Amino acid sequence: MADLRFDGRVVVVTGAGAGLGRAYALLFGSRGAKVVVNDLGGGRHGDGSSSKAADSVVDEIKRNGGIAVADYNSVVDGDKVIKTALDNFGRIDVLINNAGILRDKSFVRISDQDWDLVHNVHLKGSFKATQAAFPVFKKQGYGRIVMTSSNSGLYGNFGQANYSAAKMGLVGLASTVAIEGAKSNIHCNVIVPTAASRLTEDILPPDLYAELKPELIAPVVAYLCHESCEENGSIIESAAGWAGKCTIVRAKGNLLRSKISDIVTVENVRDSWEKVTDITGAERLASIQEATGQLMSDLERLSNPTGPEGGSDGNTFSFTSKD
Ligand code: NAI
Repeated sequence: MADLRFDGRVVVVTGAGAGLGRAYALLFGSRGAKVVVNDLGGGRHGDGSSSKAADSVVDEIKRNGGIAVADYNSVVDGDKVIKTALDNFGRIDVLINNAGILRDKSFVRISDQDWDLVHNVHLKGSFKATQAAFPVFKKQGYGRIVMTSSNSGLYGNFGQANYSAAKMGLVGLASTVAIEGAKSNIHCNVIVPTAASRLTEDILPPDLYAELKPELIAPVVAYLCHESCEENGSIIESAAGWAGKCTIVRAKGNLLRSKISDIVTVENVRDSWEKVTDITGAERLASIQEATGQLMSDLERLSNPTGPEGGSDGNTFSFTSKD
């Protein structure tokens, strides 16, 4: 099969002056894309700025025979980043929201500034850049967007409440952008990377750190952004040459009352708790409509508990009457 190329495509990678973003930019540059290398060039905690980071990656892409331009805006002004793509290359096809900072503190010590800075770069930055690119994608009937989340968001991590909240916010943002973009062939997915970078150098054990090369994740992100990739609205975790889809599942659960005229007592909840929290046979729901649909069928069963669909029949829900 032919190699997957990005000739003629314009790719914006935010925070591309180092770490994962640099690896993404270099890969896209080597596969024929015109790359906007955005990087504010600041410190790990969001302090300072410099053009050096973006410039060095642009130079590297050019040295390898690729096409790239630097952009030094903060992603908080994401619309300016997208303007750089349009001004220089006349279009944009792919947006990778990757820029990030950390301001780790245990939960009670997080200041408003620690909260706001982290949310501004990760969540607002991704919102601003994506919102600026979206109408262009819509007009051309094509676009690929990647949001960058983290295991700290999916599972929580001590000392990262501000970061976790922003990173999980990006999952919600991506889920809705994926729905709104689908009919215009705009796909939006989430990458959950684990890689060696300045953000992780003092967090990961040294032997593990050495193996977690950003270059092993870049092909996963590139594939998600190729025109042949149908994936949309997914969370893909990747590290060390491995990738897998993550998803939110819902337990089969349990009805907390027997019929529609019953109330739900706290004791009903206690008595059902094992079934409420049993994730054996848990399912991924494809949409909010599916979730609402199940709710409607539960209500029907409660209204007609002795009907063909009612009772403890081993279907999705079973009744546990405690009276
Ligand atoms: P990194 O620190 O090497 O790269 C991030 C880049 O973003 C830096 O070059 C920085 O200058 C730039 N940046 C920061 N604020 C910016 C702003 N306001 N505007 C434009 N550029 C800005 O870090 P790394 O590890 O490559 O992180 C990339 C993304 O991956 C981040 O969103 C991070 O949260 C996420 N991530 C990384 C993990 C890892 O294991 N390295 C784990 C989970 C998520």
